[in-house]
Amino acid sequence: MPLVTTREMFARAYAEGYAVGAFNVNNMEIIQGIAQAAAKLNAPLILQVSAGARKYANHTYLMKLVEAAVIETGLPVALHLDHGPDFETCKSCIDGGFTSVMIDGSHHPFEENITLTAKVVAYAHERGVTVEGELGQLAGIEDDVNVSAENASYTNPAQVEEFVAKTGVDSLAIAIGTSHGAYKFKPGQQPQLRFDILEEVERRLPGFPIVLHGASSVVPEFVRQINEFGGKMDFAVGIPEEMLREAARMAVCKINIDSDLRLAMTAAIRKHMAENPSHFDPRQYLAPARQAIEDMVAHKIETVLGCAGKA
Ligand code: G3H
Ligand code: 13P
Ligand code: ZN
Repeated sequence: MPLVTTREMFARAYAEGYAVGAFNVNNMEIIQGIAQAAAKLNAPLILQVSAGARKYANHTYLMKLVEAAVIETGLPVALHLDHGPDFETCKSCIDGGFTSVMIDGSHHPFEENITLTAKVVAYAHERGVTVEGELGQLAGIEDDVNVSAENASYTNPAQVEEFVAKTGVDSLAIAIGTSHGAYKFKPGQQPQLRFDILEEVERRLPGFPIVLHGASSVVPEFVRQINEFGGKMDFAVGIPEEMLREAARMAVCKINIDSDLRLAMTAAIRKHMAENPSHFDPRQYLAPARQAIEDMVAHKIETVLGCAGKA
């Protein structure tokens, strides 16, 4: 099966009350770990590449690695640009074989966001590629942009119909209290998601796929492991998994996870190196890192996303 767009994936996810995992990829071991978990659980998959990942690993290398994952697993896989910063980056990914792109105009004023997003949609749709837009701003770090909690803003549900109608986007990322990175809430803080906003968006856009960014749960076990084996990370609270599962039962069809994979991978490498100080063959520490990614993704598919068996 060739790479697919998100269109059918989301239609089924919406109808059956689950979400598809969108996992960030940067190298071969990450792609293999994710693909292996999805294959074992027969789950649909979105592999997403940020502008930073593309700069780090090179478009063609990532493209070919993702194509290899499709061949090896036979799963429906969408290759998605995460947080496309401008029209040119989206165009380059569309021309280069991505099946889905996000244009992130969320930091622009509403009208400018509409104009930019509509331009990307026109180009993408002519070429059979699906587009994710964003309204509202999450706190946290994405690429080089660091949005402070004070500057973050929830999505205004009164704007969503106009945004979707005028841009023609296929899915919409909204801000309901999730945030990017490994430091979302301080220890002891009680994470709150604005389910009232999600409900109102769902009421205004019946049947329309919604996306949640910043959805890592920052599993403390991995932060503990990183610190136990020479790391120095502060503890933080992420998004509780049961809240994400609830969102996936509603209109949320795509849930973005990156930080939890980074933590799992780094914890595995630190542990391996600490316990095997004489090892210098990268395969010796990258194999457990890949396995940690696989275990994490399998856990997300079963516990958070609900998409096992839906490929
Ligand atoms: O939301 C951003 C993703 O976690 C990607 O992060 O831009 O550092 O690759 P990155
Ligand atoms: P996390 O940092 O919570 O994993 O979010 C990732 C994300 O939203 C990628 O777009
Ligand atoms: Zn994001």
